[in-house]
Amino acid sequence: MATIIEIDNLTHIFSDGTKGLNNINLTVTSGSFVVIAGSNGSGKTTLLRHLNGLLLPREGEVRIEGVPVEDDLLAARQKVGMVFQDTDSQIVGETVFEEIAFGPENLGLDRDEVHKRVTAAMKSVGLAHRADDRPHLLSGGQKRRLTIAGILAMEPAILVFDEPFSNLDYPGVLTVLRHIVSLHEQGHTILLITHDLEKVIYHADRLVIMQEGRVVRDDIPHHLFKELETLGVRQPCASRMGYQLQSWLG
Ligand SMILES: Nc1ncnc2c1ncn2[C@@H]1O[C@H](COP(=O)(O)OP(=O)(O)OP(=O)(O)O)[C@@H](O)[C@H]1O
Ligand SMILES: [Mg+2]
Repeated sequence: MATIIEIDNLTHIFSDGTKGLNNINLTVTSGSFVVIAGSNGSGKTTLLRHLNGLLLPREGEVRIEGVPVEDDLLAARQKVGMVFQDTDSQIVGETVFEEIAFGPENLGLDRDEVHKRVTAAMKSVGLAHRADDRPHLLSGGQKRRLTIAGILAMEPAILVFDEPFSNLDYPGVLTVLRHIVSLHEQGHTILLITHDLEKVIYHADRLVIMQEGRVVRDDIPHHLFKELETLGVRQPCASRMGYQLQSWLG
């Protein structure tokens, strides 16, 4: 598979001098499903915000399909869709329809195309009947689905989810998870930050662990399960059971 994301020697220093990222190197192949975990403040959000130029490197470079993000921010934003943890801060539209239309309109697409994409995206996340409602009247889970629809309508090759399951009830988790898995099956590249590996790790093909602004592990998920707790990440329950079974069975 072709390489879609290249991160070379990426260092980020915030204006107050905090080193958010320290010499990150990461390559992602098209169509992969990468989960990123690590303790609070380890740099996960900072890293992913470099993918569409919300943050720019102090040192190093990020390339999407071979093009440095800094050279073409519009292209990067078209290729990389982000669903943030705090959905409220992401919502700008007066209605559900307008909110979803915002992204495609910014891409300069014509009205018919925008209408077509918004209608399809609303349907796909089950919000078609709420098209004229004010986004702020939606529940937390519905708002998350709304932001996912907004990203779907832009048809990005890469989808980034920062803690997509936080504050969702069980049906909400399942709905969002189904969307993410189906996007992966359709060939999108997925990068997902979570503290809760249990929900997604069996769908992922790669697990990256961060600590203090660095990538400290990068492997097939089950290769890392045993040492997760020493890296500040809770081990998925089912994998603990698996190891217990293995030890019982000798
Ligand atoms: N705007 C900012 N200004 C200064 N420092 C920041 C800023 N944003 C993040 N940081 C710092 O950068 C480091 C990495 O933060 P980041 O938000 O990327 O962590 P994270 O791994 O996403 O954590 P969490 O699991 O809590 O979301 C932390 O030390 C944090 O305090
Ligand atoms: Mg974060």
